Amino acid sequence: MTSILVLNGPNLNLLGTRQPEVYGTTTLADIESACRDHAKKIGCEVAFLQTNSEGGLVDAIHAAKQVHSGIVINAGAYTHTSIAIMDAVFSTELPTVEVHLSNIHAREEFRHKSYLVRATIGQIAGFGLQSYLLGMDALMAHLNT
Ligand code: DQA
Repeated sequence: MTSILVLNGPNLNLLGTRQPEVYGTTTLADIESACRDHAKKIGCEVAFLQTNSEGGLVDAIHAAKQVHSGIVINAGAYTHTSIAIMDAVFSTELPTVEVHLSNIHAREEFRHKSYLVRATIGQIAGFGLQSYLLGMDALMAHLNT
C-alpha cells in the first residue's frame, strides 16, 4: 500500500499556542488526526513525525527511502534556510510536497524564499490544516499518474 511520511519541523510542536493570530488554534495532534483520517479516505498509510532539529529532519528524510512512497513536509523556518534539507530530499528521490499552514508569500520577505521547493513536486501554502490534506492529495495524484 502507498505510504506517506508527513514530516514536521521546528516549533510546529507548539501549534495551538504559538502565534494563534498567524497559525490559528489547531494543534499538531489535530493535524496528525486529520492526516490519519484522510489517509483512510484516500487509501494510503501515513506516518507522522515532528522534530525541532535540522539534522533530525535530514535523518528522517534519509530513513524514508525504501519505506515510504513519498513525503509531505512542513520544514518550518528551515524551509527558508536549509540547503541540507533540500539536498536530503534530492538524494532520496522520493516525490515530496512542501506544505505550510500560512501563506508564506503574503508574509515577511525572508519567508518568500524556499530552498526546499526546488527538490519538490510543488508547494501548498496558506490553507491551515487543509494544506496537509491537499499535500497528501497532490502526492497521491502524482504517484497514481
Ligand atoms: C510555516 C511558515 C514558516 O515561515 C515558519 O517559520 C513556520 C511555519 C507554516 O506552516 O506556515 O514555522 O512553515
